[in-house]
Amino acid sequence: MQKKIVIGNWKMNPLSLKEAEKLLIEISESFSLIKKTEIIICPPFIYLESLRRLLKAKNYKLKLNLGAQDSFWENIGAYTGEVSAEMLYNIGVKYVILGHSERRAMGENNIDINKKIKSALSSGLIPIICIGENVRDEKHEYLNFVKMQIEESLDKISRNNISKIIIAYEPVWAIGKGTLPATVEEFREMSIFIRKILSDKFGIDNVENIRIIYGGSVDEKNAEGFIKDGHADGFLPGRASLDSKKFSKIIKICEVLNK
Ligand code: PGA
Repeated sequence: MQKKIVIGNWKMNPLSLKEAEKLLIEISESFSLIKKTEIIICPPFIYLESLRRLLKAKNYKLKLNLGAQDSFWENIGAYTGEVSAEMLYNIGVKYVILGHSERRAMGENNIDINKKIKSALSSGLIPIICIGENVRDEKHEYLNFVKMQIEESLDKISRNNISKIIIAYEPVWAIGKGTLPATVEEFREMSIFIRKILSDKFGIDNVENIRIIYGGSVDEKNAEGFIKDGHADGFLPGRASLDSKKFSKIIKICEVLNK
């Protein structure tokens, strides 16, 4: 049985390292022991190294890992503005979010994401792959859309590697301010659909332990339903991860409900 996983996507927040450290300290000090839930914080690149040092120096009982919000597919070279998976691995980062809808909106496509996933895996990072439709149409075209995202972004990933990935189902219409989260039923259906596509492609034995988590307006009030009735393997909260109290409650819900 895999642990549940809660991944805080801080996006382009907060504005200063001081605030980032304060938030990380608040989260780390809100629990003494969490056994059945993995906790990952994904801050902007610029804070990763300092936050890693801070965690090491404080040696909190609550163990949490750091993740990045993106990584490039080449390892090293003339790629202005990019950061490679291997560079991240070398500073102690363990996870990377790839294919987030906010990056796709800036032009990233499934082929780019596929290259990034391969590079992350070969550098030793665990990719958290975001998929999700922009809209839900009555003809259910969104199912084909999600299927294509999975098939293209996971093209030629080896059967050995596939079990390492985490899939975050994040419908774009549910992300950010002024939106409603997916319903528990919508998530449940989609997670069954996603696992079926994965098992058709990679074989059931290789994909049964892949965690399929939910993201999109997750908070401390709706998290319980997604775990209890939606069988979510965890969450990728954005806004709620910037509030240590809300984020800690989400972790607690995962911990208590993980039997
Ligand atoms: P949100 O963001 O929780 O603020 O809706 C989620 C995400 O984009 O990962």
